[in-house]
Amino acid sequence: MKYSYIFIALFVLFSSCKEERIVGVTSNKAMVVSARVEASKIGLQMLEKGGNAFDAMVATELALAVAYPYSGNLGGGGFMVYRKNDGSIGALDYREKAPLAATTDMFLDENGDVIKGKSTKTPLSVGVPGTIAGIFEVYNKFGTLPFKDIIQPSIDLAKRGVIVTQKQDKRIKKYKPSFWEANKDSTLFHQVWNEGDTIKYQALAETLTRIRDNGRDEFYKGKTAEIFVDFMQSNGGIITLQDLEKYEAKWRDPVTFTYDDLKVISMAPPSSGGVCLAQIMNAIEPFDLHTYKPNSTKAMQVMVEAERRAYADRSYFLGDPDFVSIPIKELIDKEYAKERMASFSFNKATTSKDINPGTIEVVESDETTHYSIVDQFGNAVSVTTTLNGAYGSKIYVSDLGFFLNNEMDDFSSKPGVPNMFGLVGAEANKIEPEKRMLSSMTPTIVEKNGKLWMIVGTPGGSTIITSVLQTILNVHEFGMGMQESVNQPRFHHQWLPDEIRIEPNKFDEKTLKELEALGYKLNTKRTPIIGKVDAILVLPDGSYEGGADPRGDDTAVGF
Ligand code: DON
Repeated sequence: MKYSYIFIALFVLFSSCKEERIVGVTSNKAMVVSARVEASKIGLQMLEKGGNAFDAMVATELALAVAYPYSGNLGGGGFMVYRKNDGSIGALDYREKAPLAATTDMFLDENGDVIKGKSTKTPLSVGVPGTIAGIFEVYNKFGTLPFKDIIQPSIDLAKRGVIVTQKQDKRIKKYKPSFWEANKDSTLFHQVWNEGDTIKYQALAETLTRIRDNGRDEFYKGKTAEIFVDFMQSNGGIITLQDLEKYEAKWRDPVTFTYDDLKVISMAPPSSGGVCLAQIMNAIEPFDLHTYKPNSTKAMQVMVEAERRAYADRSYFLGDPDFVSIPIKELIDKEYAKERMASFSFNKATTSKDINPGTIEVVESDETTHYSIVDQFGNAVSVTTTLNGAYGSKIYVSDLGFFLNNEMDDFSSKPGVPNMFGLVGAEANKIEPEKRMLSSMTPTIVEKNGKLWMIVGTPGGSTIITSVLQTILNVHEFGMGMQESVNQPRFHHQWLPDEIRIEPNKFDEKTLKELEALGYKLNTKRTPIIGKVDAILVLPDGSYEGGADPRGDDTAVGF
């Protein structure tokens, strides 16, 4: 067999201490890990044809738009971080933008209060989509295969249809009332879909075919743009043709920092991912984390307290770098992290009301899905893309065959009022025309001793940063493999609300009691799962181990 498709992690017994270890899919040359097997396979096909990780990225992104409408998208946006085999790095921002007609108080009533639901499930919640601009930007810079060959498998998949998995069956049923509410009409997703059924996406196939034939402009200036804008305007949205014409994806310098012998390369603003991850890891680095057990009281304390302090800064300092000046260098300074942690003691939880955003001296002189790819040339790509909520705003453009994002909710509608992820923001992330909303997406690549070591990322809104953190630390500090690390239970603290969010029924009861005794509030009810991490680890012999999160239908394939 040329390569092996293995859909679920293998449970393998090994190691001298006779512990059971979980090992994921392994491969020698190349790997793609994404939220759906169809998308992982289509990405890998590009590599088999001799294409590179960037060709595979474009193909996987498009295939997810077909196979994973929950968050794969044409109507959303995302971020990509890459590291080429020569060590050069970069990042692409194809985040949605606020429309030209957006206003700072567009989600407030006459008393200045936030109108519930307006930023999450109305046509006003939709940001100008960036996905198609993003993939063409990547393709034009790094692509090697003919574009038609990259997009065709997704067109064929849309026509052939995608089989409903058990998890998808549940999701579609769960969101059906929201689809009605958002669309006030029946769409493809109102039909009864059960596990094992095949959903064919004819309208999406036609949209993709036009993009194949007419290129990027089809989405931003062509027939697709016109249908989209007509749809928006007739439903009370504010996105215009001018908004689409003006949209551009942007190359950004990734945020980089060290942690022991690792160099972490992650997303820059308008995502808070890289900066926050750097702040948290800087704060943890001085502690001998490896001497504590994973998910033990002490390990969780250190991580939670680092998270609390970083998220407090996130709320105040971060926003779109094209609109606000962000003291990145100062925020990710190791000394600053030490100062922030000075108030931490193992004897008692800090309370979030005692933590304010730090004082920075600025020296003059930013439902989702993640996929990770490494190609046979050693190029690595880490991509997180989103519609924001599950199926975005739930608004479905039937004539185009895709859902629209509700990314406008990632702005701070009103300083201090939490968004759907409970995140609070301030002036830096207020709504302004053409501004990008602050994100938590954290596509990340890690080097060890100067060589590619890990490609990692996840969905999960505000919990993205802390899931990426735990995945890296489980391997680096606690000696786990990739799949083993991905499978671990997760916890999360984001300053406000002042609680540790915990995956239910997965943690040691004794540890949880100890944390409560120290003054930590625990919330096991907020969400059944935290994150769906898809990652790749370079093993000591140079081969790859995939970590495909069993919390979803995620799948690693390789050769
Ligand atoms: O950009 C962000 O941070 C959010 N829009 C991500 C949303 C997300 O991860 C939802 N998935 N669970």
